[in-house]
Amino acid sequence: MPQALAVQGLTTGHAPFVEEARSRGELYIEQAYELYSPENHDAWRRLFGRMRPHWEQYANDHFLRGVEALNLPPDRVPRLSEINRKLQLLTGFQAKAVSGYVPGFLFFDCLKRREFPTTITIRPVNRMDYLPEPDIFHDLAGHVPMHTEKAFADTLVRFGDCAHTAVEMTADIKDVRERTLRLTNIIKAMSRFFWFTVEFGLMRGPAPEGICAYGSGLLSSYGELQHAIESEEVQRYPIQMEWVINQGAEIDHYQPILFIVDSFDHLFELVDRLERWMREGKLNNVAPGLPEINEGDLRSFMGCGTSRVTPL
Ligand SMILES: [Fe+2]
Repeated sequence: MPQALAVQGLTTGHAPFVEEARSRGELYIEQAYELYSPENHDAWRRLFGRMRPHWEQYANDHFLRGVEALNLPPDRVPRLSEINRKLQLLTGFQAKAVSGYVPGFLFFDCLKRREFPTTITIRPVNRMDYLPEPDIFHDLAGHVPMHTEKAFADTLVRFGDCAHTAVEMTADIKDVRERTLRLTNIIKAMSRFFWFTVEFGLMRGPAPEGICAYGSGLLSSYGELQHAIESEEVQRYPIQMEWVINQGAEIDHYQPILFIVDSFDHLFELVDRLERWMREGKLNNVAPGLPEINEGDLRSFMGCGTSRVTPL
């Protein structure tokens, strides 16, 4: 490994190893563990140390058991290979290192194969509280412990099935404009549903709050986890499909509206219903607003099965 790369570490926004892989069009990469700098490991140690008491207070039990089952190290960035050995035995899921954003269909298709695209860079120590893009703490400490739970893991696989259904249902639309419009609505509905469940979901839980968190965006955010459970400014509602698929996501501040599921079996049933609604045409005209569906996402849904999808 060139010395210059090792010195710069794998810090989000300053990781030549990752940025060069991306510029070569390589989406799936190695973790290159030896490149993490002492500062990178220190960032993980600080993030993990301050989150742990909050997890014990606000996270759902399955998440806490997942942290234990994977034996997430408190003092250094985890090796994906170590995590994957344990995860494989529990649900067959694997954390797979990627160089950046994974376009929609490719992301959901990974889930169908029980692979979770995982960012390997970590935020700089002077930006512990807010980072718009995912990092390894969000992906590995926020998402992956949930992948040890069977019903939750099966739910992620069903998201992958939904993406394949979307492709099947739109493949024969000859008019490109019509196909683009149809797919934009369906991807928006799927993305919103994913956002308000896998990323920011709440679940009925024990007293005193009566709710707990399972969404990774909450479980990897020191400030937002407590805010989501305790703040009077947050509106929390039992999840409703027709609302979630039409609710715009908020990306640059704490979520003002959150949705509560009863259990992971409940969540699994909801993804079944999402796919049923897709087949019935109920996702064809959702409300405008975030998230924006970009060209790479659309291309990933249009290109699969017919030609090679170029990772953006
Ligand atoms: Fe995430």
